[in-house]
Amino acid sequence: MVDVILTGDRPTGKLHLGHYVGSLKRRVELQNSGQYQNIFIMIADAQALTDNADDIHKVRSNIAEVALDYLSCGLDPCKATIFIQSQIPELCELSFYYMNLVTVSRLQRNPTVKNEIHLRNFQQSIPVGFFTYPISQAADITAFKANIVPVGEDQLPMIEQTREIVRSFNTLYRKVLVEPKAVLPENSTCSRLPGLDGAAKMSKSLGNCIYLSDSSDEIKRKIQSMFTDPTHLRVQDPGHTENNPVFIYLDAFCRDEHFAAFLPAYQNLDELKEHYRRGGLGDMVVKRFLNEILQNELKPIREKRELLSTDLNAVFDMLKDGSQKARTVAAATLDEVKSAMGINYYKNGF
Ligand code: TRP
Repeated sequence: MVDVILTGDRPTGKLHLGHYVGSLKRRVELQNSGQYQNIFIMIADAQALTDNADDIHKVRSNIAEVALDYLSCGLDPCKATIFIQSQIPELCELSFYYMNLVTVSRLQRNPTVKNEIHLRNFQQSIPVGFFTYPISQAADITAFKANIVPVGEDQLPMIEQTREIVRSFNTLYRKVLVEPKAVLPENSTCSRLPGLDGAAKMSKSLGNCIYLSDSSDEIKRKIQSMFTDPTHLRVQDPGHTENNPVFIYLDAFCRDEHFAAFLPAYQNLDELKEHYRRGGLGDMVVKRFLNEILQNELKPIREKRELLSTDLNAVFDMLKDGSQKARTVAAATLDEVKSAMGINYYKNGF
């Protein structure tokens, strides 16, 4: 069986550092490993609409932003098919049939959906489309027979739900669909980068993100304002490195060579942490170091992004080509699905 990779993002905002370490970086590595010929990257506009039906403009305008973020991080349309979800109507058709394989109570138990309902204060007013988006996500994945889905930790329940749908379909009808597996970032800190304020997640609505498009000054200002250890009041006080967002970011981004380049008084992160815990190391020194590292990582991305954004038509053309390619693949799977279910009447006979 050939490996097929599929993943995607909702275009509800520009992508941030959490997306970058949690998933984007990994995708680019997988793409450039040369081991995978079938890579699909989806801008999930239809999924974004499930809780933004009253704000089409937001979703629409962020399609280009997300595409720019992809390209500037190194996703390459020659090696990966980048496409827009709503341009593949076959995904809706697949979802419609999968809906019969999932119970309401199973959806209610999906931890990601549960958490998102809580975050959005939906309580009794959950849109049906939103409630059922795990089913549509199963369609996204299975339409391409993807077996590898690189995602952040918060998406694990979605992959599990997809696997259940695949098993039900294959048992009930015929073995057509492929069970996917999630691929998390190798460094577990990267799976869920906290916000600048220490909140569990970077999120646009919480205003605690560093965006890939942020200017150098914005990055610096945001790092200066980051939460650290609230018990570390004076430089000489002993500090905590665990649950300290600045150190969590260092866990995600810092490599030994950064010390040689930006903070030669230490050899590695363990030494720096050790000093902080002992006392005598000020937050400003650590933040300045983190700033150097992030500036270094984000500068080439930002510069590429600025260049690409001068020709948005080229970006839209790329998405159109990608969507056409993706549609051909999804249509072939839908055809197989309908045959397996025995509803391809005019093809397979009544
Ligand atoms: N739910 C994902 C997110 O919120 C986006 C997404 C939609 C996705 N369809 C997908 C991710 C299929 C992986 C595979 O980020």
